[in-house]
Amino acid sequence: MKKSKPILQDGFGREHTYLRISLIERCNLRCSYCMPEEGVQLTPRSHLMTYEEIYTIAKTFVDHGVTKIRLTGGEPLIRKDIPVILEKLASLPVELSITSNAVIIDRFIDTFRANGLHNINVSLDSLHRDKFKEITRRDNFQKVYDNILLLVDEGFNVKLNAVLMKGFNDNEIIDFIRLTKELPISIRFIEFMPFDGNKWNMEKMVSYKEVMEKVREAFSEKEIIRLKDAPNDTSKNYTIEGYKGSFAVISSVTNPFCDSCNRLRLTANGQLKNCLFSASESDLLTNLRAGKSIEPVIKKAVEAKLKIRGGMDTLEKLQEPKLHGQNRSMITIGG
Ligand code: GTP
Ligand code: 5AD
Ligand code: SF4
Repeated sequence: MKKSKPILQDGFGREHTYLRISLIERCNLRCSYCMPEEGVQLTPRSHLMTYEEIYTIAKTFVDHGVTKIRLTGGEPLIRKDIPVILEKLASLPVELSITSNAVIIDRFIDTFRANGLHNINVSLDSLHRDKFKEITRRDNFQKVYDNILLLVDEGFNVKLNAVLMKGFNDNEIIDFIRLTKELPISIRFIEFMPFDGNKWNMEKMVSYKEVMEKVREAFSEKEIIRLKDAPNDTSKNYTIEGYKGSFAVISSVTNPFCDSCNRLRLTANGQLKNCLFSASESDLLTNLRAGKSIEPVIKKAVEAKLKIRGGMDTLEKLQEPKLHGQNRSMITIGG
């Protein structure tokens, strides 16, 4: 008998072992590249996954081969039942990780430790208080910066995410890299990506190539060391000779890494997205609540995954508001 294809394998042979779960659509910051100025229409609470539902859905994915779960938001830590969610998910055989803006992360050190969560990615787009305030519309720079140092001190594996925007923070690339001289963190420069309501345009984006040009102006070829990327890394990783940390570029726009994609996304209202850029979603929560098996829905969604960026395989297509505007706002995807 012909063995059936695993349900988390897509039509291009990609095995999906990494599930990103968005816990909440709200955030305590207001980053302009992530959410529309007027905010987003929030899903009524009764349509959001409860912690039991999150656990049940996550377990189904783990039973079918998921080995890594990342919690995202909005801001995942403002969800009141986050300690219970962590405790439930920690009982599964997975590597747990979280992406946070770190504003209130100091309150969770013990909870993370108790649940074996070591990998924390923090969003930080500027090293200047005024610019931080401008982009996030909140005056929380010092809190976030102190919390990053706290996480490092406490021995967590920390990566910083900086979304680069021309004329705004591209003059801070080298300052960010210099931070890694003494701090054992990875700073990742992210190409600004288009989502509904984030006023994206290609001119605002700083490309992988432009980042590396700035790096080459500041450091000699000999000092810039290309590191080996992990198998499903979103980032191209480098370090500067003698530095404790590293830096990287996430080049979703100019150099997509879709051929090694192992990621699926579950939104806070229980929709499965087979790609960050996919406009279509599969409703796991309604099926679960109706007592139906969610496995056939997952299988179909994974099979339907397109090869590159949800079908926006060229830069021309990605720039088309009619195409990228069909997707959600980033705040309700979670990155
Ligand atoms: P690691 O697990 O540490 O490798 O982190 P990650 O890159 O998977 O997660 P993180 O939440 O820190 O995301 C950093 C940036 O990478 C965000 O801007 C994400 O939108 C982007 N990113 C993460 N996963 C994908 C992906 O599957 N496709 C694309 N195009 N971008 C992604
Ligand atoms: N383009 C690129 N990255 C983005 N993020 C949020 N919005 C965008 C965007 N438009 C990043 C944040 C966060 C991660 C989860 O997603 O910096 O760290
Ligand atoms: Fe995967 Fe889609 Fe991201 Fe490409 S754009 S790496 S297919 S999630």
